[in-house]
Amino acid sequence: MNNVRPENMERIVNSTLAKAFIEEQITEIRNQVGSGKVLLALSGGVDSSVCAALLIKAIGKQLTCIHVNHGLLRKGEPEQVIKVFRDEMNANLVYVDAVDRFLDKLANVSEPETKRKIIGAEFIKVFEEEARKLDGVKFLAQGTIYPDILESEKGVKAHHNVGGLPEDLKFELVEPVKLLFKDEVRVVGRELGLPESMVDRQPFPGPGLGVRCLGAITRDRLEAVRESDAVLREEFAANGLQGKVWQYFTIVPDFKSTGISDGKRTYAYPVIIRAVNTRDAMQATIEEIPYAVLHKITDRILKEVKGVNRVVYDLTPKPVGTIEWE
Ligand code: XMP
Repeated sequence: MNNVRPENMERIVNSTLAKAFIEEQITEIRNQVGSGKVLLALSGGVDSSVCAALLIKAIGKQLTCIHVNHGLLRKGEPEQVIKVFRDEMNANLVYVDAVDRFLDKLANVSEPETKRKIIGAEFIKVFEEEARKLDGVKFLAQGTIYPDILESEKGVKAHHNVGGLPEDLKFELVEPVKLLFKDEVRVVGRELGLPESMVDRQPFPGPGLGVRCLGAITRDRLEAVRESDAVLREEFAANGLQGKVWQYFTIVPDFKSTGISDGKRTYAYPVIIRAVNTRDAMQATIEEIPYAVLHKITDRILKEVKGVNRVVYDLTPKPVGTIEWE
């Protein structure tokens, strides 16, 4: 399969077309890998999850999925990956708890781009270590999708999710969804039986909550980001905003403000809420969240999230602000 989507390729918009695509890919994958072993970095995002589910259907235990928990994932994500892929799909899944390792490396690092580089480099290191423990793996599967290919051709970004592996670990790539657009990947994922919460996920940056815990990451603020994000997602889902808003999340900065609780002065962190709509992430507008929903979220965060005494809503469009704070 080459890297150009044929002009006459039908858009996968329904279950019938998804079924046909899945059958076709099962044959292609089997032809490509034969009885060979395949490795996949499974983040739990839409693309890698759909890629994994396709490969599991095609070659079962010839595939080994590696899920690296770097401590910067959202609440419940590592558990969901284990439940869906190991428990329900009976896949070979290596779960790597690398939380301490990442957080130790990131301690006292406050510059956002340095944080990104450390997270990316450490991820490759962990993945490489795990890959070396497995014998005779010839193939690396990746959830590359068509926009990744278009962007890497334009030089916007390199599309390889696990690029940068050393020379002696060169694999042949298996990229079964590389000619699909995101909406098609979702249709295929549904047809493969992946849960809606996985298939219809909002975009989530590679460095995860690490760029939402501003400045040097500390465990207490990281937990505040994770817990407040979980509250926000629950309330958006409960109030019909999931799927209507492109991206919504919380941020915890590295400064405190004064508050009062039970008649006593407090000095604690604020939580910032951000909810944006966009077509291509180049420009973004602010979603008008009903005040009643914002009040409910504020109330819950103040009650349920430790170390927080203030909640604010970010009204900045992109430009001038970027979507993420770092
Ligand atoms: P910005 O903040 O640049 O974000 O307006 C645009 C979109 O890109 C996501 N984003 C990232 N995704 N690695 C990623 O994989 C990153 O380092 C990164 N930084 C931002 C952001 O979540 C938004 O969807």
